[in-house]
Amino acid sequence: MDSVKLLIDELRQELNENNYKYYVLNAPTMSDKEFDEKMAMLERLEKENPQYFDPCSPTQRVGSDITKSFKQVVHERPMLSLSNTYSVDEVTEFINRIKNMLGDEQFQIVGEMKFDGTSISIIYENGRMLKAITRGDGVQGDDVTDNVKTIRSIPLQLREGSGYPARFEVRGEILMPWTVFEALNKEREYNEEPLFANPRNAAAGTLKLQNSAEVARRKLDAYLYYLLGDNLPYDNHYDNLMAMKQWGFKVSNAIKLLNNIQEVEQFISYWDIERKHLPVATDGLVFKINSLRQQLNLGYTAKNPRWAIAYKFQAERECTKLQSVSFEVGRSGVITPVANLEPVLLSGTIVKRASLHNEDIIRNLDIHDGDMLYVEKGGEIIPKIVGVNLEARIKGSNPITFITHCPACGSLLQRVEGEAAWVCPNKYHCPPQITGRIEHFVGRHAMNIDGIGEEVAEQLYNSGFVKDVADLYELTVEKLMLLERFGLKSAQRIINGINDSKNVPFERVVFALSIPYVGETVAKKLAYASKDIDNMMQMTTEQLSAIDEIGEKIAQSVVDFFAITENQEIVERLRNAGIQMHINENTAITKSVILSGKTIVISGVFNLHSRDEYKQLIEANGGKNSSSISSKTTFVLAGENMGPAKLEKAHKLGIKIINEQEFLSMLNQDEQ
Ligand code: IVH
Repeated sequence: MDSVKLLIDELRQELNENNYKYYVLNAPTMSDKEFDEKMAMLERLEKENPQYFDPCSPTQRVGSDITKSFKQVVHERPMLSLSNTYSVDEVTEFINRIKNMLGDEQFQIVGEMKFDGTSISIIYENGRMLKAITRGDGVQGDDVTDNVKTIRSIPLQLREGSGYPARFEVRGEILMPWTVFEALNKEREYNEEPLFANPRNAAAGTLKLQNSAEVARRKLDAYLYYLLGDNLPYDNHYDNLMAMKQWGFKVSNAIKLLNNIQEVEQFISYWDIERKHLPVATDGLVFKINSLRQQLNLGYTAKNPRWAIAYKFQAERECTKLQSVSFEVGRSGVITPVANLEPVLLSGTIVKRASLHNEDIIRNLDIHDGDMLYVEKGGEIIPKIVGVNLEARIKGSNPITFITHCPACGSLLQRVEGEAAWVCPNKYHCPPQITGRIEHFVGRHAMNIDGIGEEVAEQLYNSGFVKDVADLYELTVEKLMLLERFGLKSAQRIINGINDSKNVPFERVVFALSIPYVGETVAKKLAYASKDIDNMMQMTTEQLSAIDEIGEKIAQSVVDFFAITENQEIVERLRNAGIQMHINENTAITKSVILSGKTIVISGVFNLHSRDEYKQLIEANGGKNSSSISSKTTFVLAGENMGPAKLEKAHKLGIKIINEQEFLSMLNQDEQ
């Protein structure tokens, strides 16, 4: 073997080993810097020696943005599910049943966590990941290998000399850790994208994304809990799990051999509490008969193995009094009923309010005035009303009825066709809708006008100065100073922000308009496809729905929005105020000059903004984008997994490398 190949192999092994220590054992031994340098060297060597390309190399975890639909693959062994129970008694019954079936034989039980994610089957051949398939219908699933490769805790190459069989299957659960889930939902909320209800849906949705680079960004994790194959190292489940750990898989530490019903019950009471401290969602425990021979004897029903049972945790639930139901009006006019509750402690937080979502939910739950309500926090982080304690109902109390008129402006509400929502139709004169739109308009991802929050938006509206977003451009320092709590400085800050917003690119103006269903991403697509506002306003639903990612619902919403005279007038007044109403082909709209004269190279995968957004930011702040590093490069804006060749070159030329936070704070500093 030539020396380059030896070096490549050595680097791959070292990086795999560090990945294992970092993501599986949580105990890294290599510094980040050393890791990055080794990764860079490996990437360079692989690029220079394409004959040594390996799909399982640690360099292959970053994913790609190539879109492709998934291939359906038939499972080598069907993926069955477990029978479920919520009661400890039924777990005892299960154990007694096993006792009867096994006669006099002794048996052990393995207690495990039931992870609440999405299940996966992965085939390994000669120590390398061959394919990863979703459960699908249990018989066949989707080939999501490229996406699974981005999950750092799943080995692409097993640890050398650890004694794994030549070919085997592992099954486990792909999970989105709570912290990642919360950050993702925050970002989605900001972008007006639908939120994931729980980490399970988020993990499943992420695994099915067509763009594996986006999957990599979402930082999934995985626990493996089942080994299948012909030449397994041990004749029992527990030892096989421990062997899997040696090979490099992430196997939970919460696995215990249990010898009798008492130990099973202790395991249940311990984890009922302790599971709340785990970094990933669990919805119960699984009990499996340890011996593989006994498993075989016990066999399967049509759907489940007879040798295992899942015990599901009760979601945390409390009962509390309904004090009142209030109705809130959103920016789009949708009315949301909210239950105001007597404060109650649930999973460590005090719950005072819970959304009742819509009229159907109130009716289905049959909530009456003063009812005692059951509130749950299960897999969902948001408290949910799940029922009424009918025994505690006050005799003669009235059912909660949905309001017929808008609580803010008194308009007769309308029901949205095909939906459970009631809407206030008074879009242009209903105060909370207007102030909601003003707040949205000035938001950081929209026109980015500082100093106007909920309170100031209401103040501006109530003063009569701002009745729609176009009125913002008629504000003056003098007018603002007439308002309570406004001084010269705070007034000047808002006016400066308003003036600066005239440079905000067209795609963000489209987002700022509050067109129903048009979030940040859709706004960009609309802006790029139409090029300017006049075109956009004239497009038909057919033309609009021909745009990538724009369906009929959004297309109709855009057409309806521009058909309204008030909106046409707002657009006209914004145009006259100097707002960008057409796309700037090279998006070199100057926001600041902080980067003027600077040449910047972008490399790697980013978390806070996309590469395109960074490119636009560079141009908007006077900088120049360049794709290759040279002595003219001012600095490299580096994300994760920066290209190795670039890293090496930057080091060689002594060019500064900065990360995204540093870059963003550099821009913000200049704005103050
Ligand atoms: S064993 C033949 N172990 O629960 C049974 N499953 O309804 C193989 N799950 O689809 C599954 N944690 O997605 C097993 N420790 C665990 C588990 C677990 C979660 C999921 C899995 C499966 C479902 C069973």
